[in-house]
Amino acid sequence: MIVTIDGPAGSGKSTAARRLAERLGFRFLDTGAMYRAVALACVRAGVDPEDRPAAVEVARRVRLTLQEGHILLDGQDVSEAIRTAEASVAASRVAVIAGVRDAMVELQRQTADGLDIVTEGRDQGTIVFPQAECKFFLTAAPDERARRRQRELERKGTTHSFDEILAQILDRDQRDASRDVAPLRAAEDAIHLDTSMLDPDEVVAVMESTVRARQSTSA
Ligand code: DC
Repeated sequence: MIVTIDGPAGSGKSTAARRLAERLGFRFLDTGAMYRAVALACVRAGVDPEDRPAAVEVARRVRLTLQEGHILLDGQDVSEAIRTAEASVAASRVAVIAGVRDAMVELQRQTADGLDIVTEGRDQGTIVFPQAECKFFLTAAPDERARRRQRELERKGTTHSFDEILAQILDRDQRDASRDVAPLRAAEDAIHLDTSMLDPDEVVAVMESTVRARQSTSA
């Protein structure tokens, strides 16, 4: 079974997807980490994402391995290195490139082949797995998403002003939703969940009961 979770940054997708996969005993696929790793590979190779053919070449050449919540770039664990503010911006820039997306979509489908999987990103229910049995689209108010991001950064020991974080989130939303290829949008058959007033356990509980109900009807 394939479960897709799409939505903007800070909507609670990552936490929900990881915990849901654990509870169901499914594999978890963090597709944002893949775009981030390609962006990091570009930065390291001195390739500007504006140079689209060069960025596509990097996306095709790199070896990405996802294992137990970690991502390896050509064999090196880059799980931490891809989480910086710079990597976020670079990821949203490489993610607009059609050739980069083609390479990632292919890899995502290969990774999911024959498995029970919870996958999260922006285009999982619309483009990558339109046949998925269970699709969710998560949203949250921009203020709440900025607060979550601020707390996350504080836990990592960096402080940024709320206004700065909110501006970055709105900017990234705009880029993700307005790009020509695979813009962020909900699949027609996705279940919408506004997580602004929900804690992660509540989000996962709703998702788990929905998936289990679908499993029993399809069994
Ligand atoms: O979910 P995230 O913040 O780790 O994603 C990083 C960037 O990659 C973000 O700008 C959106 C983009 N992305 C995408 O375009 N498609 C996906 N399936 C996953 C992420």
